[in-house]
Amino acid sequence: MALKQLSTVVSLALAANAAITRRVACPDGVNTATNAACCALFAVRDTLVQDFFDGGECGEEVHESLRLTFHDAIGISPAIAVIAGFGGGGADGSIAIFEDIETNFHANLGIDEIIDEQRPFVQASNMTTADFIQFAGAVGVSNCPGAPALDVFIGRQDAILPAPDKTVPEPFDTVDSILSRFQDAFSDVGGFTPAEVVALLVSHTIAAADHIDPSIPGTPFDSTPGIFDSQFFVETQLRGVVFPGTGGNQGEVESPLMGELRLQSDSELARDSRTNCEWQSFVNNQPKIQSAFKAAFRRMTVLGHNEADLIDCSEVIKAPPPLKSNAHLPAREDHERCRASLRHCCVPVPLCRPGTRYFRCSCSAVLNIWMSYVWDPLLSMVLTVDRLSQLFSSHAYQV
Ligand code: HEM
Repeated sequence: MALKQLSTVVSLALAANAAITRRVACPDGVNTATNAACCALFAVRDTLVQDFFDGGECGEEVHESLRLTFHDAIGISPAIAVIAGFGGGGADGSIAIFEDIETNFHANLGIDEIIDEQRPFVQASNMTTADFIQFAGAVGVSNCPGAPALDVFIGRQDAILPAPDKTVPEPFDTVDSILSRFQDAFSDVGGFTPAEVVALLVSHTIAAADHIDPSIPGTPFDSTPGIFDSQFFVETQLRGVVFPGTGGNQGEVESPLMGELRLQSDSELARDSRTNCEWQSFVNNQPKIQSAFKAAFRRMTVLGHNEADLIDCSEVIKAPPPLKSNAHLPAREDHERCRASLRHCCVPVPLCRPGTRYFRCSCSAVLNIWMSYVWDPLLSMVLTVDRLSQLFSSHAYQV
C-alpha cells in the first residue's frame, strides 16, 4: 500500500515537472519554445543579427538600440501623472510612435536615427513597437563579448499618447536629480536604488556620444566600446586631464584620455558617496556586471506593465561571446605619461570608507590596479598599498 502511494506521488511529481518544462515545436521546424508565442521571435532575431547588426557586431546599431530601450522605457512619471493626469506609459514604444514629438525633447537628441533605421524591421516583425524596441536592444547586446543574455518579454500594448518631456535624464543633471528621476519612474513598482542606477549605467561600457561634442561624433566613453567589460568603471575613476574635442560642451567634463569623452553625470556618479562604492565594485567583477545589469535591465524593460501579464521569451536570446581580457590601465604611453608627470596621474577617487564591506571587496580591486601610480603630494613618493590603506583608514588622503 505504502509502495503504491509512493508511486502515485512520484508519478504526480513527474507529471508536474513535465508540465513545467514541456516545449512546443515551432512551425520553423528548427526551434522549440516554452511558449508558442515566442516561436516567431527566432526569425526576427536572426534577421536583426544578420541584416541590422552587421552579421553580429557589437557596433553603432547595437549601442544606439540599447540607448533607445532606455529612452523609451524611462518615459514614465507617476509624479507628473498626479499633476497632469498622464505621466507616460514607460516601455510602450511612444518614442517611435510619436517620433515627431519625443525626438524634439532635448535629451533625445539624435535618437531619431536609430528609430528610422529600425522602422522597416519593426513593420516586418509583426511585433508591437513597444516589444520590438526592447527585443532589438537585447538581441544587439548579445553580440557584445562579456554581456549577459538579457531577458525579453512580449505582450506590451503600444502607446496611444506620447511621454511627457523631462523624463530622460541629461548628462548635466545633478546626482540628486538623476537618482530622484529613477526613483520616480519606478515608484509604482517599489522604487529604484542608487545601486540599480549604477547597474544600468553598465550600458555605457558599450557607448559613444555623437552629440555632446558634435566636432568628434562617435567618441566612446571608454577605450573598449565594442566589449561589455568593466573598463568604463576603471577609466571613469581616472583623473580627467583633457577634452578630446572642442571642450566647453554642456554635459561634458575632462576625460583621462584623448579619444574618449566623459559625461559629467558619469563622472559625478563615480564620485558621489551614494554611488561611488558600487561604481568601484564593478571593476574586474564580470559576474557582478552581468547579473546586476541583467536584473536592472529587466525591471527597466517592463516599466509601465505588469510583468506577470507578459510572456517571457528570454530563451530566444543567444548567449553572448565570453570576455577574453580583464580591465586594465589604459595604453602604455599613458602609463609613461603618468610616470613622467605624476601630478596628472590617475588616482582612484573617491575613497570608500574603511570598515564598510566595500573597503575590502571593492576598493582593493581598484588599488591593485593603481597602486604604483598613486602620487602622494605630501610625501613626494609613490604609495604602496599598505601605506594607502593606512591613509585611507585615517581619512588623511582625500582627492
Ligand atoms: C544617468 C542616466 C543617463 C544619462 C545622463 C545618459 C546620457 C547619455 C548621453 C548624453 C549619451 C550620448 C548621446 C549622444 O551624444 O549621442 C549616452 C549614450 C548612450 N547611453 Fe546613456 N545615459 C544614461 C543612462 C543610460 C542607460 C540607463 C542606458 C541603457 C540601459 C544608456 C545607454 C546608452 C548607450 C548604449 C549610449 C551610446 C549610444 C551610441 O553609442 O550611439 N544610458 N547616454
